[in-house]
Amino acid sequence: MTTTQAIQIAGLTKSYGDQSVLKGVDFDVAPGSIFALLGSNGAGKTTVIRILATLLKADGGTATVNGFDVATQPARVRESFSLTGQFAAVDEILSGRENLVLVAKLRHLKDPGTVADDLLERFSLTDAGAKKVATYSGGMRRRLDIAMSLIGDPPIIFLDEPTTGLDPQARIEVWDAVRELAKGGTTVLLTTQYLDEAEQLADRIAILHQGRIIVNGTLTELKQLLPPTKVEYVEKQPSLEEIFFAVTGTDTSGANDA
Ligand SMILES: Nc1ncnc2c1ncn2[C@@H]1O[C@H](COP(=O)(O)OP(=O)(O)OP(=O)(O)O)[C@@H](O)[C@H]1O
Ligand SMILES: [Mg+2]
Repeated sequence: MTTTQAIQIAGLTKSYGDQSVLKGVDFDVAPGSIFALLGSNGAGKTTVIRILATLLKADGGTATVNGFDVATQPARVRESFSLTGQFAAVDEILSGRENLVLVAKLRHLKDPGTVADDLLERFSLTDAGAKKVATYSGGMRRRLDIAMSLIGDPPIIFLDEPTTGLDPQARIEVWDAVRELAKGGTTVLLTTQYLDEAEQLADRIAILHQGRIIVNGTLTELKQLLPPTKVEYVEKQPSLEEIFFAVTGTDTSGANDA
């Protein structure tokens, strides 16, 4: 098997007790790309992330991160990624800059102040840098959280529901931050329940449903799964939401044409 992919997952299985959550999950993530793992509540998205992050052992199958096997080379895997969970892990009492300096020191980096200032600038937080995080908006906290996870330049970043609970403006700010990451060459694997988030950000989108990846492709490829709806003279592209409900067999309108 070649390891040109940033992440490779094949036949991954995981059960909790007698509940089988992952029933053979396969997907690859290309280096420097943004990959969205889309699924409903309880689909198993966090389970996949936790396995990749070596926080949880799979029952079967294989997974590599940056070419390293999560089962046999967990230490090398841990050097290769950073994980940003759903809830911001920033310290409220400290300023944004102090948070960044603290993590840079913990990572034994040479010039923590410069590292912090560079990241503040990259995430448009320079003006807020000296203020206590307690005064930050939700979007600013998430941006700081993502900035903190980039200290030490991990090639791969896992973002588990990066915008859950944020207002629309804050979501756009986080999206910009994620796009910045990918521009800088970082591989991004994000999970989301928001179809528009995948649509906005991802180079590729995979839908996890009932333990398997049922669709995996670019947005353009996904759109080809449904014929465009004709409305008078205007040709309407299906939204990712319509594709999602069509492929998962979930019906929102209540009208089922089976
Ligand atoms: N430690 C655990 N013990 C038992 N069951 C668990 C455990 N962790 C997750 N589960 C179950 O496994 C299933 C998948 O959970 P997971 O957290 O991976 O889903 P998810 O796609 O991340 O959902 P959400 O969108 O709500 O975050 C759920 O039914 C959940 O209840
Ligand atoms: Mg989850």
